[in-house]
Amino acid sequence: MDLLTLLLLMFWYILPAYAANGLAVIFGRGNQFNAPLDLGKNFIDGRRIFGEGKTVRGFVGGVTAGTLVGFAQAVAGENIGIPMLLSSHQTISLILAANALGLDNAMCIITINVILLTPIYFALVGYPPMIKEAILPSITKGFLLSFGALTGDLVGSFIKRRLNLSRGRPAPGLDQLDFIAGAIAFSSIVYVPPLELLVAAIIVTPLIHLATNTAGYALHLKKEPW
Ligand code: CTP
Ligand code: MG
Repeated sequence: MDLLTLLLLMFWYILPAYAANGLAVIFGRGNQFNAPLDLGKNFIDGRRIFGEGKTVRGFVGGVTAGTLVGFAQAVAGENIGIPMLLSSHQTISLILAANALGLDNAMCIITINVILLTPIYFALVGYPPMIKEAILPSITKGFLLSFGALTGDLVGSFIKRRLNLSRGRPAPGLDQLDFIAGAIAFSSIVYVPPLELLVAAIIVTPLIHLATNTAGYALHLKKEPW
Protein backbone atom coordinates (compact mmCIF):
# COMPACT_ATOMS: atom_id res chain seq x y z
CA MET A 1 0.00 0.00 0.00
CA ASP A 2 1.43 3.41 -0.85
CA LEU A 3 1.90 6.02 1.87
CA LEU A 4 -0.91 8.32 0.79
CA THR A 5 -3.43 5.47 0.74
CA LEU A 6 -2.20 4.28 4.13
CA LEU A 7 -2.68 7.76 5.63
CA LEU A 8 -6.13 8.19 4.09
CA LEU A 9 -7.30 4.80 5.39
CA MET A 10 -5.78 5.52 8.80
CA PHE A 11 -7.62 8.85 9.10
CA TRP A 12 -10.84 7.25 7.97
CA TYR A 13 -10.50 4.49 10.57
CA ILE A 14 -9.58 6.73 13.51
CA LEU A 15 -11.82 9.72 12.61
CA PRO A 16 -14.56 9.05 15.24
CA ALA A 17 -11.87 8.97 17.96
CA TYR A 18 -10.35 12.24 16.75
CA ALA A 19 -13.80 13.81 16.63
CA ALA A 20 -14.64 12.66 20.16
CA ASN A 21 -11.35 13.82 21.62
CA GLY A 22 -11.35 17.15 19.81
CA LEU A 23 -15.00 18.00 20.37
CA ALA A 24 -14.83 17.12 24.09
CA VAL A 25 -12.83 20.34 24.41
CA ILE A 26 -15.70 22.31 22.85
CA PHE A 27 -18.53 20.52 24.67
CA GLY A 28 -16.66 20.70 27.97
CA ARG A 29 -16.34 24.47 27.91
CA GLY A 30 -17.92 26.55 30.68
CA ASN A 31 -19.00 25.59 34.16
CA GLN A 32 -22.77 25.83 33.82
CA PHE A 33 -24.52 22.45 34.05
CA ASN A 34 -21.10 20.88 33.75
CA ALA A 35 -20.08 18.60 36.59
CA PRO A 36 -16.62 17.04 36.67
CA LEU A 37 -16.86 13.28 36.03
CA ASP A 38 -15.26 12.55 39.41
CA LEU A 39 -17.85 14.88 41.06
CA GLY A 40 -14.98 16.71 42.73
CA LYS A 41 -13.99 13.66 44.77
CA ASN A 42 -10.49 12.66 45.78
CA PHE A 43 -8.75 9.29 45.45
CA ILE A 44 -7.19 7.50 48.45
CA ASP A 45 -3.97 9.47 47.92
CA GLY A 46 -5.88 12.69 48.64
CA ARG A 47 -5.64 13.98 45.09
CA ARG A 48 -8.48 14.29 42.59
CA ILE A 49 -9.59 11.10 40.82
CA PHE A 50 -9.62 12.70 37.34
CA GLY A 51 -9.62 16.46 37.98
CA GLU A 52 -11.59 19.44 36.70
CA GLY A 53 -10.54 18.86 33.07
CA LYS A 54 -12.76 15.78 32.65
CA THR A 55 -16.40 16.75 32.57
CA VAL A 56 -19.74 15.01 31.96
CA ARG A 57 -20.60 17.40 29.12
CA GLY A 58 -17.22 16.88 27.46
CA PHE A 59 -17.53 13.10 27.71
CA VAL A 60 -21.15 12.75 26.60
CA GLY A 61 -20.80 15.40 23.87
CA GLY A 62 -17.60 13.84 22.56
CA VAL A 63 -19.02 10.30 22.46
CA THR A 64 -22.21 11.52 20.75
CA ALA A 65 -20.23 13.43 18.13
CA GLY A 66 -17.92 10.47 17.45
CA THR A 67 -20.88 8.12 17.09
CA LEU A 68 -22.46 10.49 14.57
CA VAL A 69 -19.21 10.47 12.62
CA GLY A 70 -19.49 6.66 12.52
CA PHE A 71 -23.00 7.05 11.12
CA ALA A 72 -21.78 9.54 8.52
CA GLN A 73 -19.08 7.07 7.50
CA ALA A 74 -21.72 4.42 6.87
CA VAL A 75 -23.79 6.88 4.84
CA ALA A 76 -20.64 7.65 2.86
CA GLY A 77 -20.63 3.99 1.88
CA GLU A 78 -17.53 2.87 3.78
CA ASN A 79 -18.77 -0.69 3.95
CA ILE A 80 -18.68 -0.91 0.22
CA GLY A 81 -15.90 1.54 -0.57
CA ILE A 82 -13.23 0.57 1.94
CA PRO A 83 -13.29 -3.18 1.23
CA MET A 84 -13.23 -2.20 -2.44
CA LEU A 85 -10.25 -0.01 -1.68
CA LEU A 86 -8.42 -2.82 0.06
CA SER A 87 -9.14 -5.37 -2.61
CA SER A 88 -7.64 -5.04 -6.05
CA HIS A 89 -11.02 -5.14 -7.80
CA GLN A 90 -11.55 -2.20 -10.05
CA THR A 91 -14.94 -0.70 -10.56
CA ILE A 92 -16.30 1.06 -13.56
CA SER A 93 -16.60 4.33 -11.65
CA LEU A 94 -13.00 4.04 -10.52
CA ILE A 95 -11.71 3.53 -14.01
CA LEU A 96 -13.86 6.33 -15.42
CA ALA A 97 -12.89 8.77 -12.67
CA ALA A 98 -9.21 7.87 -12.87
CA ASN A 99 -9.20 8.31 -16.61
CA ALA A 100 -11.17 11.52 -16.48
CA LEU A 101 -8.82 13.04 -13.95
CA GLY A 102 -5.73 11.61 -15.55
CA LEU A 103 -4.53 10.34 -12.19
CA ASP A 104 -2.88 7.00 -11.72
CA ASN A 105 -3.34 6.60 -7.98
CA ALA A 106 -6.37 4.36 -8.12
CA MET A 107 -6.67 4.08 -4.35
CA CYS A 108 -7.07 7.82 -3.93
CA ILE A 109 -9.70 7.94 -6.60
CA ILE A 110 -11.76 5.34 -4.80
CA THR A 111 -11.43 7.28 -1.57
CA ILE A 112 -12.76 10.39 -3.27
CA ASN A 113 -15.48 8.20 -4.68
CA VAL A 114 -16.43 6.83 -1.27
CA ILE A 115 -16.45 10.17 0.50
CA LEU A 116 -18.00 12.39 -2.15
CA LEU A 117 -19.76 10.46 -4.83
CA THR A 118 -21.29 7.48 -3.03
CA PRO A 119 -23.47 9.55 -0.65
CA ILE A 120 -24.70 11.70 -3.54
CA TYR A 121 -25.45 8.63 -5.62
CA PHE A 122 -27.31 6.94 -2.77
CA ALA A 123 -29.19 10.12 -1.94
CA LEU A 124 -30.51 10.06 -5.48
CA VAL A 125 -31.28 6.38 -5.98
CA GLY A 126 -31.84 5.25 -2.37
CA TYR A 127 -29.84 2.88 -0.23
CA PRO A 128 -29.74 -0.78 -1.15
CA PRO A 129 -30.59 -3.18 1.73
CA MET A 130 -26.94 -4.21 1.92
CA ILE A 131 -25.92 -0.76 3.14
CA LYS A 132 -28.85 -0.43 5.49
CA GLU A 133 -27.55 -3.57 7.19
CA ALA A 134 -24.07 -2.06 7.30
CA ILE A 135 -25.13 1.14 9.05
CA LEU A 136 -25.50 -0.40 12.51
CA PRO A 137 -21.97 -1.90 12.56
CA SER A 138 -20.54 1.48 11.50
CA ILE A 139 -22.42 3.28 14.27
CA THR A 140 -21.24 0.64 16.76
CA LYS A 141 -17.66 1.09 15.59
CA GLY A 142 -17.98 4.89 15.82
CA PHE A 143 -19.40 4.60 19.33
CA LEU A 144 -16.67 2.21 20.52
CA LEU A 145 -13.89 4.33 18.97
CA SER A 146 -15.16 7.51 20.65
CA PHE A 147 -16.17 5.93 23.96
CA GLY A 148 -12.78 4.18 24.01
CA ALA A 149 -10.98 7.43 23.15
CA LEU A 150 -12.52 9.38 26.01
CA THR A 151 -12.14 6.47 28.43
CA GLY A 152 -8.45 6.26 27.49
CA ASP A 153 -8.24 10.02 28.04
CA LEU A 154 -9.78 9.53 31.49
CA VAL A 155 -7.26 6.80 32.35
CA GLY A 156 -4.52 9.20 31.22
CA SER A 157 -5.80 11.89 33.61
CA PHE A 158 -6.13 9.33 36.40
CA ILE A 159 -2.45 8.38 35.93
CA LYS A 160 -1.42 12.06 35.78
CA ARG A 161 -3.16 12.81 39.09
CA ARG A 162 -1.44 9.80 40.69
CA LEU A 163 1.89 11.23 39.48
CA ASN A 164 0.93 14.49 41.20
CA LEU A 165 0.62 16.39 37.93
CA SER A 166 -2.14 18.96 38.30
CA ARG A 167 -4.82 19.54 35.67
CA GLY A 168 -3.38 20.68 32.36
CA ARG A 169 0.26 19.93 33.15
CA PRO A 170 1.92 18.11 30.23
CA ALA A 171 2.66 14.40 30.31
CA PRO A 172 4.47 13.85 26.99
CA GLY A 173 3.42 10.64 25.31
CA LEU A 174 0.52 10.00 27.64
CA ASP A 175 -1.36 13.17 26.62
CA GLN A 176 -1.11 12.28 22.94
CA LEU A 177 -1.60 8.53 22.98
CA ASP A 178 -3.98 7.75 25.87
CA PHE A 179 -7.04 8.32 23.70
CA ILE A 180 -5.67 6.36 20.74
CA ALA A 181 -4.88 3.38 22.96
CA GLY A 182 -8.41 3.48 24.41
CA ALA A 183 -10.01 3.83 20.98
CA ILE A 184 -8.09 0.90 19.50
CA ALA A 185 -8.71 -1.30 22.55
CA PHE A 186 -12.48 -0.73 22.77
CA SER A 187 -13.18 -0.83 19.05
CA SER A 188 -11.16 -4.04 18.64
CA ILE A 189 -14.26 -5.82 19.98
CA VAL A 190 -15.87 -5.26 16.57
CA TYR A 191 -13.04 -4.30 14.21
CA VAL A 192 -9.28 -4.66 14.08
CA PRO A 193 -7.68 -2.81 11.15
CA PRO A 194 -4.53 -4.00 9.37
CA LEU A 195 -1.45 -3.62 11.57
CA GLU A 196 0.14 -0.97 9.35
CA LEU A 197 -2.89 1.28 9.96
CA LEU A 198 -2.44 0.98 13.72
CA VAL A 199 1.27 1.76 13.45
CA ALA A 200 0.51 4.78 11.25
CA ALA A 201 -2.09 6.03 13.75
CA ILE A 202 0.36 5.76 16.65
CA ILE A 203 3.11 7.59 14.73
CA VAL A 204 0.99 10.33 13.17
CA THR A 205 -1.39 11.10 16.06
CA PRO A 206 1.12 12.84 18.37
CA LEU A 207 2.03 15.17 15.49
CA ILE A 208 -1.61 15.99 14.75
CA HIS A 209 -2.37 16.33 18.44
CA LEU A 210 0.42 18.86 18.76
CA ALA A 211 -0.78 20.81 15.72
CA THR A 212 -4.48 20.86 16.73
CA ASN A 213 -3.72 21.72 20.34
CA THR A 214 -1.49 24.61 19.28
CA ALA A 215 -4.34 25.79 17.06
CA GLY A 216 -6.88 25.31 19.90
CA TYR A 217 -4.65 27.33 22.21
CA ALA A 218 -4.27 30.11 19.65
CA LEU A 219 -8.06 30.21 19.22
CA HIS A 220 -8.48 30.36 23.03
CA LEU A 221 -10.34 27.03 23.08
CA LYS A 222 -7.67 25.43 25.24
CA LYS A 223 -5.80 26.79 28.21
CA GLU A 224 -2.50 25.12 27.35
CA PRO A 225 -0.80 24.46 24.00
CA TRP A 226 -0.38 20.67 24.75
N1 CTP B 1 -12.68 18.06 28.37
C1 CTP B 1 -13.86 17.81 29.06
N2 CTP B 1 -14.25 16.52 29.32
C2 CTP B 1 -13.51 15.47 28.89
C3 CTP B 1 -12.31 15.71 28.18
C4 CTP B 1 -11.92 17.02 27.93
O1 CTP B 1 -14.57 18.74 29.46
N3 CTP B 1 -13.93 14.22 29.16
C5 CTP B 1 -12.30 19.48 28.11
C6 CTP B 1 -11.82 20.18 29.38
O2 CTP B 1 -12.24 21.52 29.31
C7 CTP B 1 -10.31 20.08 29.28
C8 CTP B 1 -10.10 20.23 27.78
O3 CTP B 1 -11.22 19.54 27.20
O4 CTP B 1 -9.63 21.08 30.01
C9 CTP B 1 -8.78 19.66 27.29
O5 CTP B 1 -8.71 18.26 27.52
P1 CTP B 1 -7.38 17.59 28.09
O6 CTP B 1 -6.16 18.21 27.53
O7 CTP B 1 -7.55 16.12 27.95
O8 CTP B 1 -7.51 17.92 29.67
P2 CTP B 1 -6.60 18.80 30.64
O9 CTP B 1 -7.37 20.00 31.06
O10 CTP B 1 -5.25 18.97 30.06
O11 CTP B 1 -6.51 17.88 31.95
P3 CTP B 1 -5.54 16.64 32.26
O12 CTP B 1 -4.33 17.19 32.95
O13 CTP B 1 -6.36 15.79 33.16
O14 CTP B 1 -5.21 15.97 30.97
MG1 MG C 1 -4.20 18.38 28.49
